[in-house]
Amino acid sequence: MGTPAPRSVLLLAVLVGLCTPPVAWGKPNFIVILADDLGWGDLGANWAETKETPHLDELAAQGTRFVDFHSAASTCSPSRASLLTGRLGVRNGVTHNFAISSLGGLPRNETTLAEVLRAAGYSTAAIGFDYYLGIPYSHDMGCTDTPGYNVPPCPPCPQHGTACSPANKDCYTDVALPLFENHTIIQQPVNLSSLAERYMEAAARFIQQARDSGRPFFLYLALAHMHVPLQITPPPDRGIYGAALCEMDALVGRVKLLADHCGKGSTLLWFTGDNGPWMQKCELAGRLGPLLGTWQRARGGSPAKQTTWEGGHRVPAVVYWPGHVPARRSSHAMLSGAAGKDGQVEALRLAQYKAFYTTGGAKACDGSTGPEEHHHPPLIFNLDRDIQEQEPLDVATREYQAVLPAISRAYAQALEDIATDNITVADYSKDPAAVPCCSAQHVACRCHAHGQKSDTAL
Ligand SMILES: *[C@@H]1O[C@H](CO)[C@@H](O)[C@H](O)[C@H]1NC(C)=O
Ligand SMILES: *[C@@H]1O[C@H](CO)[C@@H](O)[C@H](O)[C@H]1NC(C)=O
Ligand SMILES: *[C@@H]1O[C@H](CO)[C@@H](O)[C@H](O)[C@H]1NC(C)=O
Ligand SMILES: *[C@@H]1O[C@H](CO)[C@@H](O)[C@H](O)[C@H]1NC(C)=O
Repeated sequence: MGTPAPRSVLLLAVLVGLCTPPVAWGKPNFIVILADDLGWGDLGANWAETKETPHLDELAAQGTRFVDFHSAASTCSPSRASLLTGRLGVRNGVTHNFAISSLGGLPRNETTLAEVLRAAGYSTAAIGFDYYLGIPYSHDMGCTDTPGYNVPPCPPCPQHGTACSPANKDCYTDVALPLFENHTIIQQPVNLSSLAERYMEAAARFIQQARDSGRPFFLYLALAHMHVPLQITPPPDRGIYGAALCEMDALVGRVKLLADHCGKGSTLLWFTGDNGPWMQKCELAGRLGPLLGTWQRARGGSPAKQTTWEGGHRVPAVVYWPGHVPARRSSHAMLSGAAGKDGQVEALRLAQYKAFYTTGGAKACDGSTGPEEHHHPPLIFNLDRDIQEQEPLDVATREYQAVLPAISRAYAQALEDIATDNITVADYSKDPAAVPCCSAQHVACRCHAHGQKSDTAL
């Protein structure tokens, strides 16, 4: 969406600025928990039909919930790069997703939030910064021995020398999913059943170490949830997605306890998502709540992840900082902005008005994709009356004619501002040699934890 980067910058400024703490408080700690492909309706506080998020709802009750908060892109890498830099993909170069064999990533001359905080004396971790633990991409982008859920399902890694030909071309069966600590692969394939627990342990250890060293900390906890559910045993009364949502909610509850343990008010905890639900995964996808994108649905395709419909980038957002950020408040302030495919400015928001210059749908559960269409003059929806984006204003109406000049100006300004900015270009080239592989001897790059010992001898 066209709302330019300054909005993201503004958000960080608000978060930091709200809080210049009294000297006695010292520097606040920051914890950012980022969920993957979480729907706006996946937060019970946003959408009453959702019952699986008691801890998040409590966080919202004790903090401020932003109901008009937007990720900076409707796909993974661009959204995350923007979160860390405060700049949209068209500025920082990260306009689409990196692949397993990518040679590049976020360009080094872009400044991240972690770098700014590190210069201010912070200990930083991405669970890289000073410390890193995690899988380098989504948990369905490599095979595992106990695959998580998927639509259609994906097979486990081959155990021995022969690769099986995948029945589903969306399954990544060639390379086992690696778990990194800093630059070292510590497990390949990762055990999905214990991944969440490992993240929790690492978070707790990092916080403890930062406290022991007397330094404030910045922890960026980018969860594997809710992309597609990890390996879990769903209780009989709940679907797989609901069970995974429960699991994530419990994790957030534990992180909040860790934060409170540092002293209430010493830590700002910000929970949000990278983009909307991945509708092509059908019953394994998140919930849109009221963000139905009805205009697009009527033409085929999904109005969620990978699109600039509200469902693509309006995400749950909760900020918890006792004594500093008001409790029991929901804010309608519009924060951040989203860009469409390859970073183009497809749509623009001005107050309650949303103007589309380009529309299109992502792949839906039924396999349909809505074709890309260009609109001059733009389609304009009044979100106050039409949150489901069903019926654009008639061009002939007073309302349309009254708002169009301001929208056209804002659009031209956004394009001009981007064109005259420092534009960084990211390297999207790929090389099979860049694939993270613990043991090239094994067909699935398998190895044991803490060593280069390969399974091929077995
Ligand atoms: C990762 O980096 C941290 C911080 O520098 C260090 O304490 C830890 O031992 C490293 N772990 C590995 C496996 O390299
Ligand atoms: C994976 O983790 C689960 C949960 O901790 C554990 O029960 C299981 O034994 C692990 N599997 C392997 C192959 O280590
Ligand atoms: C990063 O480097 C590129 C190429 O060297 C340059 O064009 C761009 O302006 C730089 N970006 C920033 C934010 O300094
Ligand atoms: C653009 O980037 C150059 C080199 O990286 C830097 O010297 C300059 O200050 C930047 N300009 C702006 C407006 O950020």
